[in-house]
Amino acid sequence: MPQRNLLITNALPYANGALHLGHMVGFMQADIWARFQRLRGHKVAFVGGDDQHGTPIMLGAEKQGITAQQLIDDIQARHKLDLDRFHISLDNYSGTHSPENKTLVESIYLKLKEAGHIDVRVIKQAFDEEKGMFLPDRYVKGTCPKCKSPDQYGDNCEVCGTTYDTTDLIDAYSVLSGKPPIEKESEHYFFKVSAFSEMLTEWKSSNALQPEISNKLDEWFEGGLIDWDISRDKPYWGFEIPNAPGKYFYVWLDAPIGYMASHEILCQQNGDDWNAIWQAGSTGEIHHFIGKDIVRFHTLFWPAMLEAAGYRRPSSVSVHGFLTVDGAKMSKSRGTFILADTYLEYLNPEYLRYYIAAKLNNGVVDMDLNLEDFAARVNSDLVGKMVNIASRCAGFIGKRFDGQLASQTAAPELHQAFVDRAESIAARYEKREYALAMREIMALADQANQFIDEHKPWVLIKQEDQLDQVQQVCTAGINAFRSLCVLLKPVLPHLVEEAEAFLNIEALTWADIEQPLLGHTINKFKPLMTRIEIQTIEAMVEQSKEDLGVQVDPNSPLGQDPISDEINFDEFAKVDLRVAKIVAAQHVDGADKLLQLTLDLGGETRNVFAGIKSAYAPEDLEGKLTVMVANLAPRKMRFGMSEGMVLAAGPGGSDLFVLNPDDGAQPGMRVK
Ligand code: 2FM
Ligand code: ZN
Repeated sequence: MPQRNLLITNALPYANGALHLGHMVGFMQADIWARFQRLRGHKVAFVGGDDQHGTPIMLGAEKQGITAQQLIDDIQARHKLDLDRFHISLDNYSGTHSPENKTLVESIYLKLKEAGHIDVRVIKQAFDEEKGMFLPDRYVKGTCPKCKSPDQYGDNCEVCGTTYDTTDLIDAYSVLSGKPPIEKESEHYFFKVSAFSEMLTEWKSSNALQPEISNKLDEWFEGGLIDWDISRDKPYWGFEIPNAPGKYFYVWLDAPIGYMASHEILCQQNGDDWNAIWQAGSTGEIHHFIGKDIVRFHTLFWPAMLEAAGYRRPSSVSVHGFLTVDGAKMSKSRGTFILADTYLEYLNPEYLRYYIAAKLNNGVVDMDLNLEDFAARVNSDLVGKMVNIASRCAGFIGKRFDGQLASQTAAPELHQAFVDRAESIAARYEKREYALAMREIMALADQANQFIDEHKPWVLIKQEDQLDQVQQVCTAGINAFRSLCVLLKPVLPHLVEEAEAFLNIEALTWADIEQPLLGHTINKFKPLMTRIEIQTIEAMVEQSKEDLGVQVDPNSPLGQDPISDEINFDEFAKVDLRVAKIVAAQHVDGADKLLQLTLDLGGETRNVFAGIKSAYAPEDLEGKLTVMVANLAPRKMRFGMSEGMVLAAGPGGSDLFVLNPDDGAQPGMRVK
């Protein structure tokens, strides 16, 4: 098989908040593919970075009292850490604010301009006079012109689904100042996408796209290709457009160019040829993995822009659906809006890598993380089937045969079954049909376990004349385990690395599946993976409720604090708020965010864990009054029982304020 030269990317996350499990689906899907291709011996550059421009980042930094540069640097470091801990094998992780990206963005824009693909037109937009800025649609709210629901966004109504122009809203107001916006004219720069309709029609029918995405493109073509507004007025956090003072490139213009820039940085580090991938007519391949909400940018604007600037088109754009948890949209109040680092506090990242692989095929469908099914599936497949094969055989080989595998296997046909299925499994990976691949792999694991069940080495070991047979049966088992390691290495890189140490072998490649490991000495077996306990998942969900207000929703103009799911008045009225005195406060061993508080409610004492460690030292709190939810059912947390919840407000970090009632308040007093 000739070696392929592949560039692989996943959508660049916005640099205004922590990564959550929704982000991780895309990263894992792309990472499994990248690892699979490397395992097959191909040359892979898997690059990424943060999407670091735009209004929410500018306002987010302002709100936190830091510069946008500080915000993006801080977030980039946090994203990198999370990705690393989930074993996402990115070869470079930069950001769209890099100097390399600036140079590329300017050069591409100038090529577009010189070729006559840029138009300048005057448009009218909502403008906040108090803030002195034009307002993106999400920053204007008002009453829906159709169903009259209040507080709807400037582009569409979430109640009746109507889409409209911001100017159609009744009693429109700016989310930033609360004042009605005025209409103001300004010059904008447009990329003439319609000039590329022929090229896009051809691209639509190439095999770069999934069928449902090609159909989507058809719909857009039918509606007519609209030129794309690529500029924004100051104040804006981004790159200024050359020779256009006060005009900036829209974040979505420089975001995909960020793929090119990140790759360029990698090529500079490795001495690789960037052009071998990007130049028109190159034999290299470009594969993008994205979510279904950003298809238009990647399948219309991006290929047209590349073509216009004289570069080649992507080989594929692979679109996945959204992640739901327990059958519903991730919800902060239910604790199913799970941050990547909260997950990692409780669970092994490879559990999720496997579960996602086991559920994901190449359609544009949403993927549900059903938490009970997640535990059951991981426990049954990885612990019960895969790791179990090794643990059933390793002890006998270690204790009775000095770690030495037999020079022949008791089951050449079992070995052959793996060899025979390997190419079909590889084809599944190649087509991103991971769920089908996992199903085939687990069927082989079942076959291996059945073989061990039938040959019962634990019975044979008691018969002196059967020792050779035990060694050969266990050799067959260990080899089946090794073959599973090859097949699952793209999904479980860390487990397989530990297995390689146990098997005392070099890093496995796909081709290693052909030859069994015979007459070889293996190391002592250590348990490679433990079961998921349902209590651990429950604790993670509880912790995710505690994380409320820390996560940033990029679509939310409220920046740090997206509004939670709606409750009705009766539900609200049930909340019993009381003044409480903090009589003691202490650190909690092993908890990054929590303090343990002892609260006096006017006679009654409560133990409460509060996620306010980033803002307070325990000694700052003792003696202070606060407000607590007194009738919250006690919740078992990892560190003990929490008997209520302390109310705090603020953007997070060190700006988190426990509500400090007036001096006249008495512990136990009801807050109205
Ligand atoms: O939707 C998003 O999260 C964007 N930040 C994705 C950008 S992908 C690429 F174009 F950079
Ligand atoms: Zn409406």
